[in-house]
Amino acid sequence: MSKKPLLSARDLRKSYGRRSARFEALKGINIDIYGGESVAIIGKSGSGKSTLMHLFALLDKPTQGSIRLNGKNTSKLNAHSLNKIRNKEFGFVFQSFFMNSNDTVLNNVILPLKIAGVSFRERRRRAMDALRVVELADKAKNKANDLSGGQKQRVCIARAIVNDPKVIFADEPTGNLDSATGERIEKLLFGLNKKKGITLIIVTHDQDLADKCDRQIHIADGKIFDESRSQELDLANFDGDSDNDGMRDHNTTKHIDAEEAEE
Ligand SMILES: Nc1ncnc2c1ncn2[C@@H]1O[C@H](COP(=O)(O)OP(=O)(O)O)[C@@H](O)[C@H]1O
Ligand SMILES: [Mg+2]
Repeated sequence: MSKKPLLSARDLRKSYGRRSARFEALKGINIDIYGGESVAIIGKSGSGKSTLMHLFALLDKPTQGSIRLNGKNTSKLNAHSLNKIRNKEFGFVFQSFFMNSNDTVLNNVILPLKIAGVSFRERRRRAMDALRVVELADKAKNKANDLSGGQKQRVCIARAIVNDPKVIFADEPTGNLDSATGERIEKLLFGLNKKKGITLIIVTHDQDLADKCDRQIHIADGKIFDESRSQELDLANFDGDSDNDGMRDHNTTKHIDAEEAEE
């Protein structure tokens, strides 16, 4: 793990609305995220998780405070540079980032490469590689709309990795999936983290998923709580096992070799 943070937030604040309707979604967040880490941002619905992730992913601007990427203050970057960073360095697995459901699976995965100006043949080759990683190469020509929820999520992962990103942002990646399908998505994400060293930032309200990450950042009411405090607060959702050290291990059975998935 590198010594300097890849992403760091300092006194990050975000408000929505104005005057009496003003709502402070983030109230001064400080976080350092290092390259190669898997980090869970965990908290109840409405606590500010998605807001925080959007700021980290440079999809939105803070009301106050800063995000540094590789030590560089991102508030100074223009729209073109921001687009380029998002396109080249980041991959997104967001429910709100809909695929074009009327287009083919392949074209959906190709999109970031098209934006990046990759040649026709090369982007086709790389998109097929990404679909192989998520074991959906055989669905390349299908309409995205015709896939199951889990398959759609795997297409999103293929699209997120097609540009070989440094960071994958996943917002409730298993949220709408049954547990077996969710587990498959988790294995894919953690496999990419371990095998390719892709930094993983996962927003979730699922303590089990959070426990599989290297680090858990508990957020409540727009603020970070320290671990002991957050465990007290989370007692209602506490399964009694989640502070067991062994559970935090990325043991080898959890680590799938994403690239050696069937052709
Ligand atoms: N665009 C917006 N306008 C107004 N309020 C918002 C907006 N986005 C989020 N919020 C509010 O900010 C709070 C945090 O939202 P969010 O970050 O989506 O929470 P989480 O992802 O933890 O469920 C919520 O109370 C939500 O209603
Ligand atoms: Mg959310």
